Amino acid sequence: MDKQELQDPALTNLIISREDQVTPKVLNAMAQTDDARLREIMASLVRHIHAFIRETRPTEKEFETGLQWITRLGQSTNESHNETVLAADVLGISTLIDLINNDGMQGETMSALLGPFYRGESPVCKLGETIARSVTRGAEFFIKGRVTGLDGKPVEGATLDIWQASPDGLYENQDPDQDDFNLRGVQLTGADGCYEFHSVRPKGYPVPTFGPAGELLKAQNRIPMRPAHVHFIVSAPGHKTLITQIFTDDEQSMAMDVVFGAKRQICGELVEHTKPHADYPKAQVPFYTCEYDFVLKPGTPTFPVPPITGKTKAAHNG
Ligand code: BEZ
Ligand code: FE
Repeated sequence: MDKQELQDPALTNLIISREDQVTPKVLNAMAQTDDARLREIMASLVRHIHAFIRETRPTEKEFETGLQWITRLGQSTNESHNETVLAADVLGISTLIDLINNDGMQGETMSALLGPFYRGESPVCKLGETIARSVTRGAEFFIKGRVTGLDGKPVEGATLDIWQASPDGLYENQDPDQDDFNLRGVQLTGADGCYEFHSVRPKGYPVPTFGPAGELLKAQNRIPMRPAHVHFIVSAPGHKTLITQIFTDDEQSMAMDVVFGAKRQICGELVEHTKPHADYPKAQVPFYTCEYDFVLKPGTPTFPVPPITGKTKAAHNG
């Protein structure tokens, strides 16, 4: 429909006198938006928010509290912590957007949340190198596999960007005791499409709870835990970029994921080795291995804007 037709002169000239006039008046005022998608999104947003307000009928005090909560999301965000991403995650918004845009129906690997801890620009690791750049206690962990297309053929020149929390449950950007870029690395596949990283076994960890998202979790009596996982961004020319996480935890922990990010399709099989193994001659027992192949679908590579860019200078958990 032409945007001019969406404007109603009667509404344009109306001076509001009743509650039921507000929504049509606002929709009419926004009907001149040039960008059709912005017009559609904002009209729907106003219809739904106004309906929510009519349903819950917030008091002025509650409205003020809500606005302050949103303000504090921004105020709590800095170069090493992103509270707005965290809030979208604990409300299930990020997972809903993820599933709408990535249904995995062509046989490609399922995606998962980027989360608030992706920094970008990680150092390059050669095949088999460790991403533990400072002394990181914890059992040794080896993860390897292949990147293929939907046809099963290896993808040469795929980039894997990998990051994980330490066994203390902190990403290096949250923890002054870890070296810059600890447990982060980038690897490029060769002609066989293979990748192989050495690391420490990931553990489940609590999301940061010092800010407004944490206050909400507390008020809702929710457990702020994420199941153990490793993050990957797998990209290659001619393929849609895959943002995902491989989970190495039990069913209960996955079902209880505070950000609703765990999916059955991206559950990796963690193998415990209690005896030395010829393929891992230097590994100290017990150690853990996981083999996981990534399947990319055709498309144009795109790259997320990192939610954070640096490392915290002070000791706090976010
Ligand atoms: C993460 O996996 O890094 C994460 C995702 C969502 C919220 C908090 C952390
Ligand atoms: Fe994570």
